[in-house]
Amino acid sequence: MSTSESANPPPPSSPPPEDTARDTAGDENPAADPPTQLEADVVDDNDSALGFSDEELSTASLRSSIREYNMLHGRGYHRDQTYFLPSDEDESDRLDLQNHQLLLTFGGKIHFALGADTAKRVLDVGTGTGLWALDFADEHPEAEVLGVDIAAIQPSFVPPNCSFEIDDLEKDWTFSRKFDYIFTRLMAGSFADWDRFVGQCYDFLEPGGWLEVIDPTLPACCDDGTLKPEAAINRWDEYLVKASKKLGRPFDAGSGHFDRVKAHGFVNVERKIYKWPINPWPKDPKFKEIGLWTRANIEGNLEGISTALLARGLELSREEILAFLAEVRAELRNPRIHAYWEV
Ligand SMILES: C[S@@+](CC[C@H](N)C(=O)[O-])C[C@H]1O[C@@H](n2cnc3c(N)ncnc32)[C@H](O)[C@@H]1O
Repeated sequence: MSTSESANPPPPSSPPPEDTARDTAGDENPAADPPTQLEADVVDDNDSALGFSDEELSTASLRSSIREYNMLHGRGYHRDQTYFLPSDEDESDRLDLQNHQLLLTFGGKIHFALGADTAKRVLDVGTGTGLWALDFADEHPEAEVLGVDIAAIQPSFVPPNCSFEIDDLEKDWTFSRKFDYIFTRLMAGSFADWDRFVGQCYDFLEPGGWLEVIDPTLPACCDDGTLKPEAAINRWDEYLVKASKKLGRPFDAGSGHFDRVKAHGFVNVERKIYKWPINPWPKDPKFKEIGLWTRANIEGNLEGISTALLARGLELSREEILAFLAEVRAELRNPRIHAYWEV
């Protein structure tokens, strides 16, 4: 979605006018379009101890990255403990895997905003391991790309038009120059006040600038009744949302993005909806592959995604968390449950 273009003339590939806010399922890129309903494939029926030595522990304790961690159930979290996901090496691996999952989901596209290709100054909010910023900078050598994150998990070797900064973007922004494209991906659960965040984006975009927001929405969907209302997957979605709200950073913020950006005065607002099947249950090979990556991302990292929310937000013990996640994991592996999350 773009800011109003009062100060700048519209770009050559001018987007539709203000009154055409659209809610679509990826209609610009047929290769990436999800079908209306996914067809299921036929099913063929056929806590580890860390074990550090004293020496390793003392070495580890000297590493600055470890010093900044706050440990919970064996995972390293950002020191202020407001962010619900770990910030350790396993989480960096998960973010890289998720980057690939998103590339598959979007048919290889890394951006959708119409003004992205002509943007000169680009901000990647919550850049994580920086893969999106690096890819965008590679593809757009004329653009200056800045990735910002609270965690220092970005690579040191970067193309000349890409840089990273460590900063908390929930605070007042202090950038000396405005941007003409702000990109933010998978940040639901990171911000307490999304209205304030979208307001800061609006204020720090040049007239005619573009904002792109990508997030999953909860709960999981199912078109054929194979995901029962009482399913552990449904309870997982519900508990994560409940816990995140209790801790003040709603994990289901994605559901409100479309209305929120329109309310802030953005024009040419469009929502595209893609699907993440929970596992390779779909028949269509493209969605089967996305399902494989979704399973690797979510089921493969269930504890990392859930622990801080369930422990801090719902005060569940480690044993309670592990027992509950075992139920969720079993369903995430079950190809007879034809569920998916929307992104
Ligand atoms: C789920 S990750 C997504 C990373 C990246 N956008 C991507 O799509 O791969 C969310 C990122 O937001 C960062 N983050 C959380 N709260 C933040 C804040 N207040 N300011 C800046 N970054 C933040 C986290 O450290 C993490 O790297």
